[in-house]
Amino acid sequence: MSSVNELDQVKLNGRDFLTLADYTREELDYLLELALHLKKQRKLGREEQPLKGKTLGMIFEKSSTRTRVSFEAGIYQLGGSGLFLSSKDLQIGRGEPVADTAKVLSGYLDGIMIRTYSQELVQQLAENASIPVINGLTDAYHPCQVLADLQTIMEVKGALKGVKVAYIGDGNNMAHSLMLGSAIMGMDISVASPKGYEPDEGITKKAISLAHDSFVVVTNDPIEAIKDADVIYTDVWASMGQEEEQEKREAIFTDFQVNDELVKHAHSDYTFMHCLPAHRGEEVSASIIDGNHSVVFQEAENRLHAQKALMVALMG
Ligand code: CP
Ligand code: NVA
Repeated sequence: MSSVNELDQVKLNGRDFLTLADYTREELDYLLELALHLKKQRKLGREEQPLKGKTLGMIFEKSSTRTRVSFEAGIYQLGGSGLFLSSKDLQIGRGEPVADTAKVLSGYLDGIMIRTYSQELVQQLAENASIPVINGLTDAYHPCQVLADLQTIMEVKGALKGVKVAYIGDGNNMAHSLMLGSAIMGMDISVASPKGYEPDEGITKKAISLAHDSFVVVTNDPIEAIKDADVIYTDVWASMGQEEEQEKREAIFTDFQVNDELVKHAHSDYTFMHCLPAHRGEEVSASIIDGNHSVVFQEAENRLHAQKALMVALMG
């Protein structure tokens, strides 16, 4: 493939990207193929600008390094422009209805990326906007991260189907999107969380229903989950918005640290992944995240390529 236009079998133009559950394996395969293509073209210095003149609005109600910078750099690289919109500065922060905000922004922009707390708010925004809305993280999901993670697993393992993923830690937004992404793409996934911190039951059921040729397991035993894993994934114990629970969670999650002892149970060729930011000495030891099985910076870079593919497909 020499041009993004040659890869246009799957039409995603105008779609929202709110949760991976809305996408089929074929559609995700298409996005991944496009992401790998865009990455290659960038490395060769042969980038195209298919989004010339388009503007992406980026609403942030929570902090961000990777999501903000990769979306903003990405839209510029594609020939468009990105507008950083802090929800504190928008009228939405003073109570303007989400529906009105969606209708107004649809008149100015070609796409909206939003990072906030409530998935329902993102859904409401999407229902009222006439332009694509991309979920840049909610308390429930982090689909853009998992798109980049799927790309990374493809690069490292050569395929997705048949790969066994172990997620060790909090049953949070990352766990939810990773379960859905794994199920759709035919990867086995085992999630180990402490009692009371398991992934949401409804989302777990959804992932199980989407898994046609792989398994989805939720357990309270990290050793059981990590057994023979090809990919080991973890995330912070206290997510954004849970800062006051930090100390309490540190005590509850101690046995769920990914460290040299725990990874002995994984496949000897395991790959370690983390969405970042990471807390060394909490959910992962420095020896593992900085060790030679870790691909966390390749994974972070792929946020750029995967989201460029997403923007080209949705806003192109
Ligand atoms: N992984 C991730 O979404 O990072 P940021 O919070 O820095 O955007
Ligand atoms: N679970 C983390 C992910 C950060 C990228 C959070 O929501 O804070």
